[in-house]
Amino acid sequence: MTSDGISNNGLAGSRFAMEYRLNHLDVVGSTSQSTFGIPVQTGFIDKNMSTENPPRTTVFRAVDIAKIYQMGEVNVHALRGVSLELYEHEFVVLLGASGSGKSTLLNILGGLDVPTTGTVHYLDRELTASDESALTRYRRENVGFVFQFYNLIPSLTARENVELITEIARDPMDPMAALDLVKLKDRANHFPAQLSGGEQQRVAIARAIAKKPKVLLCDEPTGALDVETGIVVLEAIARINHELGTTTAVITHNAAIARMADRVISLSNGQISGVHENASKISANELEW
Ligand SMILES: Nc1ncnc2c1ncn2[C@@H]1O[C@H](COP(=O)(O)OP(=O)(O)OP(=O)(O)O)[C@@H](O)[C@H]1O
Ligand SMILES: [Mg+2]
Repeated sequence: MTSDGISNNGLAGSRFAMEYRLNHLDVVGSTSQSTFGIPVQTGFIDKNMSTENPPRTTVFRAVDIAKIYQMGEVNVHALRGVSLELYEHEFVVLLGASGSGKSTLLNILGGLDVPTTGTVHYLDRELTASDESALTRYRRENVGFVFQFYNLIPSLTARENVELITEIARDPMDPMAALDLVKLKDRANHFPAQLSGGEQQRVAIARAIAKKPKVLLCDEPTGALDVETGIVVLEAIARINHELGTTTAVITHNAAIARMADRVISLSNGQISGVHENASKISANELEW
């Protein structure tokens, strides 16, 4: 592994970008305007772009998505016209009060739910034009999920829980390598009941990333953990983002966690209320909350 950790593992960085570009020869050299007014490179390097500001591949592009849940007579507006882009390799925190629409948004990006209106693209694939089986394939091949509750199989060891995924994935990691990334190799033969909450969450993270997903979507991964344990879990997520280049989105209520992110997208009442780019991010063990 090189110092940037993404050049030689065949997953992120060059190969991912290359595959994407090969699929996008029709947009070579073109740029588009991002939701936030930033020109976004969608194809090959634009000669006009400075080397200090390298082009970013857009992994997700959501345009004006709304989600309305119909509950009998009542319409619940979970999302009200959200447009955003997430870029290759970045670490994004989605911040917002309870009920602001964070999980709804993450579930839509992850292909677990569909918006009522608006469009969502994952690279060149329009998720909002995909049927159920295409969405299932999309999730299986591209997305790792981590939820607040770990959903491990109690009768399987840590390693076996990870193997459940590696046995069906196309190009998985070695399960022990995945456990090593979350610093749990020495607990591989333990059952969930023999692991702490934080350790169980790290097994869940190892399971999520063992198939080498291009994106990792985490819905309050530290929600059930105390501060110290939460930090260890966040360190594992940050390590995966850094070493595998996995585009990572983490939902939290906790504004302190936002300082770890490249970008912080705040949601309020189903809308984006702010986007903040951290000039410098801090590591998980520097967090205070
Ligand atoms: N399946 C559903 N059916 C009906 N309403 C829903 C459903 N899922 C979410 N909602 C509603 O949509 C709104 C946004 O919910 P969402 O779960 O996205 O919020 P959140 O920001 O993740 O909140 P929390 O921090 O509490 O998890 C809420 O008012 C919620 O009650
Ligand atoms: Mg939620």
